[in-house]
Amino acid sequence: MGQIRLLWFFFLWLVGCGSLAKGVLGLACNWGLQSTHPLPPTIVVKLLKDNGFKKVKLFEADPGALKALGRSGIEVMVGIPNDMLASLASSVRNAEAWVQQNVSNYISNYGTDIRHVAVANEPFLRTYKDMFVRTTFPALQNIQAAIIKAGLGKQVKVTIPLNADVYQTDSGLPSGGNFRPDIYDLMIKIIKFLQDNGGPLTINIYPFLSLQADPNFPKEYAFFNNTASPLVDGSIVYTNVYDANFDTLISALEKNGFGQMPVIIGEVGWPTDCDPSANVNNARRFNQALLNRIIQGQGSPKRRTPPEVYLFSLIDEDNKSVLPGNFERHWGIFNYDGSIKYPLDIGNGRPIVAAKGVKYLARQWCVLSPSASISDPNVAQSIIYACQYADCTTLGYGSSCGNLDVRNNASYAFNMYYQTTNQRKDSCSFNNLSVITTVDPSQAPCRFEIMIDIGKHELARSHGKSSAARIPSLISALMLVLAFVICGVY
Ligand SMILES: *[C@@H]1O[C@H](CO)[C@@H](O)[C@H](O)[C@H]1NC(C)=O
Ligand SMILES: *[C@@H]1O[C@H](CO)[C@@H](O)[C@H](O)[C@H]1NC(C)=O
Ligand SMILES: *[C@@H]1O[C@H](CO)[C@@H](O)[C@H](O)[C@H]1NC(C)=O
Ligand SMILES: *[C@@H]1O[C@H](CO)[C@@H](O)[C@H](O)[C@H]1NC(C)=O
Ligand SMILES: *[C@@H]1O[C@H](CO)[C@@H](O)[C@H](O)[C@H]1NC(C)=O
Repeated sequence: MGQIRLLWFFFLWLVGCGSLAKGVLGLACNWGLQSTHPLPPTIVVKLLKDNGFKKVKLFEADPGALKALGRSGIEVMVGIPNDMLASLASSVRNAEAWVQQNVSNYISNYGTDIRHVAVANEPFLRTYKDMFVRTTFPALQNIQAAIIKAGLGKQVKVTIPLNADVYQTDSGLPSGGNFRPDIYDLMIKIIKFLQDNGGPLTINIYPFLSLQADPNFPKEYAFFNNTASPLVDGSIVYTNVYDANFDTLISALEKNGFGQMPVIIGEVGWPTDCDPSANVNNARRFNQALLNRIIQGQGSPKRRTPPEVYLFSLIDEDNKSVLPGNFERHWGIFNYDGSIKYPLDIGNGRPIVAAKGVKYLARQWCVLSPSASISDPNVAQSIIYACQYADCTTLGYGSSCGNLDVRNNASYAFNMYYQTTNQRKDSCSFNNLSVITTVDPSQAPCRFEIMIDIGKHELARSHGKSSAARIPSLISALMLVLAFVICGVY
C-alpha cells in the first residue's frame, strides 16, 4: 500500500512538473448558475482545470458545484445571497447551521477546498438604497463566529464582495479616494473586522459599466493599451480606469489606516452582446490585456503587488436578471454550453479550450412556417409569449440578432422557446404558425441555439457512478513509467 502511494506521489509530482513547464497559471473566475440549461458541474470543473483556473467563486452554496469541486485542486469562494442576510444576522444559530451544511459538510465529506465565504453580494449598492445596511455586518460577524466554532478559523476566511461605488473621490483623482459618506462608519467597522480576522476586502470593478453608463466616457480609457486621454494624479499617470479605480480604493484604505489591507478583485470582465460597447472585439481586447497583467503579476501604480482577480464570468447565463441591461446574460468568456466565443491566450501562447463531453438536443430548429403570414396577429402574440419564457435578449436593437428581418425575428423567438423547453413536441406549434427544420437558420453573427440535453447528461451521470472502478496497482505502475516517458526523464 505504502509503495503504491509512493508511486502515485511520484506520478503526480511528474505530471505537476510537466504542467508547470507548460505554464499552467493560477487564474480565477466566477461561476454563475442562473441558466435554464446549466452545464453539468463535472464538465465545468474539467473546463476550469483545462484552462488554468485554480480558484473559483460561487454566488451560492450550490450542492452540485461544491461536490464536483471536491478534490479538484481548485480553491473555492462560496457566496451567501443577500436574501439570506436577515436570517443570518438575526441569530448565530442560523449562521452555525449555514456553515455546517454549506461549508463544513463539503470540506469533510467531499474534500472541497473552501477558502473564503463571501457574505452578501454588493449589499451597499446605491440602487439597493439601505436595504442591506443593517443586516450585512451582523451576518458577517455571525458567520465568522460559526466558522471559528466549526474549527475552520485558520482555513476559511470571510469577506464581503462590494461594488466599487462604496468609495469615491471628490477631486476626481485616485489620490482623493475615500469611502462613501453614508456608509463611512460602517465600512471602517467592517474593514477593521476583516483585518482582525485575516479576511480580505473584495471589490468588483467594471470599466465596461463606466463606459456603458456615461456617453461622454472616453472609450479608450476603459482599455489597457490606451495612450490617449490619460489622467494625471501628481507623479502618477493613469492610462486606464481600472488602475485609477483600484488606486482610489487604495487611497481610501491608506487614509483610514488600512494601507496593508489585502484586496481581491471579485468581478471584472466584459460582455459580448446587447450593448453598443458589448461585442466580441471589445471583450477580447479587454480580457486578453487583463489576463496578460495577471500572468505577468502586474499591480497598479499605488500597489505593485497584484491583487487576486476573479474574471466575470466563465459562461453565459440565459436566466440572469436583465434589470441592469440585456448584456447581463452575455458576460461569459465561453458561451452557455462551454463553447469558445473568441480566442484567448492564457499564457505562453496557450489557447483556451472548450468544454468537453457536452451532449446536445437533436440538430433541429423551430421556425416560422413559410405559409404563415407576418400580418397574422397571432405572430406578434406568439413572439411575446415565447420571449416571456425564453431568452430573446439578442433580438434587441444593436445586438447580435438585431438585424434579422421580421420573419427571421419570429423564427428566432420560436426557436428559443422550443430549445428552452427541451424541444418538447408541443412547444413548436404557435397556432400552427411554426415548423421544425433541420437546416440551421443562423445568420452570422446571430446564432440560432440548440440547447444542452439535460436528460442525456443525467443518464450519463447515473451510469458513470456505478461503473467507477478502483485503479489497480498494475495501472499505477504503468502510469509511473508513462509519466517518466512523457516528462522525458529517460
Ligand atoms: C429563472 O429564474 C426565475 C427567477 O429567478 C426562476 O423562478 C426560474 O425558475 C428560473 N428558470 C429556470 C428554467 O431556471
Ligand atoms: C445552506 O444551509 C442552510 C441551513 O442554514 C440551508 O437552509 C440552505 O438552503 C443551504 N444552502 C444554500 C445554497 O445556502
Ligand atoms: C489597442 O489594441 C487594440 C486591439 O487589441 C487596437 O485596435 C488599438 O489600436 C490599440 N490601441 C493602442 C493605443 O495601441
Ligand atoms: C424582433 O423581436 C424583438 C422581440 O420581440 C422586438 O423587440 C424587435 O422590435 C423585433 N424586430 C423586428 C425587426 O421585428
Ligand atoms: C392546426 O392544424 C391542424 C391540422 O392541420 C388542425 O387540426 C388544428 O385545429 C390547427 N390548430 C390551430 C390552433 O389552428
